[in-house]
Amino acid sequence: MSLRTAFDTNPDRRYIMFGGKGGLGKTTFSAATAYWLAKQGYRVLVFSVDPQASLSDIFKRDIFGKGPVEIMPNLYAQEIDADQRIKEYQEEIRQKIRDMYGLPQIPEEIENYIQAAAAEPAMEESAIFDEVVDIVVGSQYDYYIYDLVPLGHALYYLSMASVYDEWIDKITKLREEMAEYDQVAAVMRRDKETEEDKILSELQFIKHRINTSSSILTDRQKTAFFFVVVPEEMIILDTQKAAGLFAKFDVPICGYIVNRVIPPELADQSIPEYLRNRLAMQKSYLEKIDRTFGGQVLARVPEFERDITGLPMIERMAQVMFGGET
Ligand SMILES: Nc1ncnc2c1ncn2[C@@H]1O[C@H](COP(=O)(O)OP(=O)(O)OP(=O)(O)O)[C@@H](O)[C@H]1O
Ligand SMILES: [Mg+2]
Repeated sequence: MSLRTAFDTNPDRRYIMFGGKGGLGKTTFSAATAYWLAKQGYRVLVFSVDPQASLSDIFKRDIFGKGPVEIMPNLYAQEIDADQRIKEYQEEIRQKIRDMYGLPQIPEEIENYIQAAAAEPAMEESAIFDEVVDIVVGSQYDYYIYDLVPLGHALYYLSMASVYDEWIDKITKLREEMAEYDQVAAVMRRDKETEEDKILSELQFIKHRINTSSSILTDRQKTAFFFVVVPEEMIILDTQKAAGLFAKFDVPICGYIVNRVIPPELADQSIPEYLRNRLAMQKSYLEKIDRTFGGQVLARVPEFERDITGLPMIERMAQVMFGGET
């Protein structure tokens, strides 16, 4: 099977992810796939959860924190600005406190607390997560391409969805129990009761959002996760391990793409011994990849003579990934 048939035969898979260790080509493949799909007439969003501005680099456009930016007809790219989102949270909390207590200004101790909470590393992650949820629950695109962070981190996001989910389950249950007790005194405390109801329904709303986004991640019908590998010993081993872990999280692994393959035709030319050795070594790792991942290898992508940045290079990449006309 080829990458192209993987797409053609599964038209319902609209959430596309490229995973792999750092620097192997996830962003490159995400951008090229988005380009190819847009050229086919689909409306595509490729978005990045990476605080490093990776899509800005490849598209040669500053898109960080600007929402979805149109790169060409049908192709939109977005880079999430977590700090911006955290600032919005903080302001929301301040507003709620002001409204609830009728305060003109936030007391200093509370302001300090708000600042300290925003500095927590988990805050950035949850801000990113929240924005991703926003993106995928709004259904304005035919395809959503996730430009993922390196493997370990991607796993973290996946596990976070289930941690969040459990946490909200617990709180919701507590709330429901409290609501039951409350009913006894409900007649006397009408105000209190409606407030509890509001919190409960807000929790259920959050839970629904998280469930929607994490169920997309593990939905075999809608989602395709491709692993990026390169013909190197350590990468093959690590990818194998990661694939096992991802399978545990029910991530639908749809295939492997081998990147940075030195064109084997070079061996027919007069080339230095150095390159000949590299080609021989690569040959053995390519065979190992085929043995390890078998029929799941969907494409071999050559090492280009330069970095993949700008639309003309992205187009060339799309052509080798998907073949033929784009
Ligand atoms: N086949 C290729 N030929 C030449 N250069 C490539 C190829 N694939 C990727 N590159 C270059 O390698 C670098 C790393 O690629 P890319 O940014 O796509 O990796 P990544 O997996 O997204 O990295 P990170 O884990 O940091 O997000 C980029 O400069 C990219 O242009
Ligand atoms: Mg990247």
